[in-house]
Amino acid sequence: MTHKITLKPSGHEFVSENAETLLDSALREGVNLPYGCRNGACGACKGKILAGQVDHGAYQDHALTEADRAAGITLLCCAKPLSDVTVEAKEIAGGMDIAVKTMPCRVESIVKPAPDVAILTLKLPAGERLQFLAGQYIEILLKDGQRRAFSLANAPNDDALLELHVRHVPGGLFTDFVFKELKEKVILRFEGPHGSFFLREDSAKPLLLIASGTGFAPLKSIVEHALHNHHQRPMILYWGARTPADLYLTELPHRWENAHPNFKFVPVISEPRAGDGWQGRTGLVHQAVLDDFADLSGYQAYACGAPPMVAAARETFTTQRGLPEDEFFADAFTFAKG
Ligand SMILES: Cc1cc2nc3c(=O)[nH]c(=O)nc-3n(C[C@H](O)[C@H](O)[C@H](O)COP(=O)(O)OP(=O)(O)OC[C@H]3O[C@@H](n4cnc5c(N)ncnc54)[C@H](O)[C@@H]3O)c2cc1C
Ligand code: FES
Repeated sequence: MTHKITLKPSGHEFVSENAETLLDSALREGVNLPYGCRNGACGACKGKILAGQVDHGAYQDHALTEADRAAGITLLCCAKPLSDVTVEAKEIAGGMDIAVKTMPCRVESIVKPAPDVAILTLKLPAGERLQFLAGQYIEILLKDGQRRAFSLANAPNDDALLELHVRHVPGGLFTDFVFKELKEKVILRFEGPHGSFFLREDSAKPLLLIASGTGFAPLKSIVEHALHNHHQRPMILYWGARTPADLYLTELPHRWENAHPNFKFVPVISEPRAGDGWQGRTGLVHQAVLDDFADLSGYQAYACGAPPMVAAARETFTTQRGLPEDEFFADAFTFAKG
């Protein structure tokens, strides 16, 4: 059973399928509506039904009062349409409209896919979710008041656990702790989401994605979000590292490439050694892009990782290949202290 959902004032229209909640169908369609817990406890997702009927679903009374219901308000994370529905709800145009939260989280798993990379999955308290845009980051709050930025590697729709890819900085306060002491079930605190590095979904331009090392993390979020939402924009990911072992999750982009004709993957190794058996591209990752593209004027580029790579990509793509400056988006993985 499908129903047509119309949002006001934006006028966006989409279809709700198989008894989905209004929020789930909006997020599936790439329409960003505000939410918090996603289970009827916080009231962050209120919207007003202007026409049509909904089943309000199960929610906590304090999140939606009798007075709210009498005024036509519902919780979009719980309400399921019973007919075509017109809803008044404020859409999030960009990252700026999403509430920044400070939250505890429990380390669910620690996997080390390369000697200096740890993939952490973090579980939020029961009933809590973090709303973010694909590509954004959080800041881990350390006991002494310092903060360390890490990009979210999971896609926003896949938000039961948060995923971070942490590169070990020898001598670094937080990453030394991660590699030497951190255990599952430890509680961390973070603040987020932050950042203007997120997928611009109002563009149809092909995406050039370029990462070095753990710069893959936010691009993984962006690609998984785009694939989940069936975006048809061509995507090409260049992922650079020193040695093949440093490309810590290559089976994943290879799988995307095999399953999605609009996705291409180019791994690039800067320091291959004789014993590596590396048959692929070599050199600096931004140079591989320059070698492959004579003209980037029709592209949108997202670069993430080591600051020198990001700087070189910005400089050369815009001055030598015609990429418009306002189509270059980046998060340089700078240190919190210098
Ligand atoms: C927006 C953003 C997103 C980020 N996302 C990620 C991510 O997803 N994954 C990830 O692994 N990292 C990410 N980073 C980088 C990460 O925040 C830093 O690596 C982190 O601050 C290291 O914390 P630490 O406490 O271990 O090191 P710190 O205690 O901050 O110590 C690092 C110290 O080591 C020194 N140092 C060591 N090696 C170098 C070097 N090569 N160049 C310069 N100085 C050096 C620095 O001077 C600095 O004082 C991100 C950074 C930003 C700004
Ligand atoms: S998101 Fe919390 S009540 Fe809907």
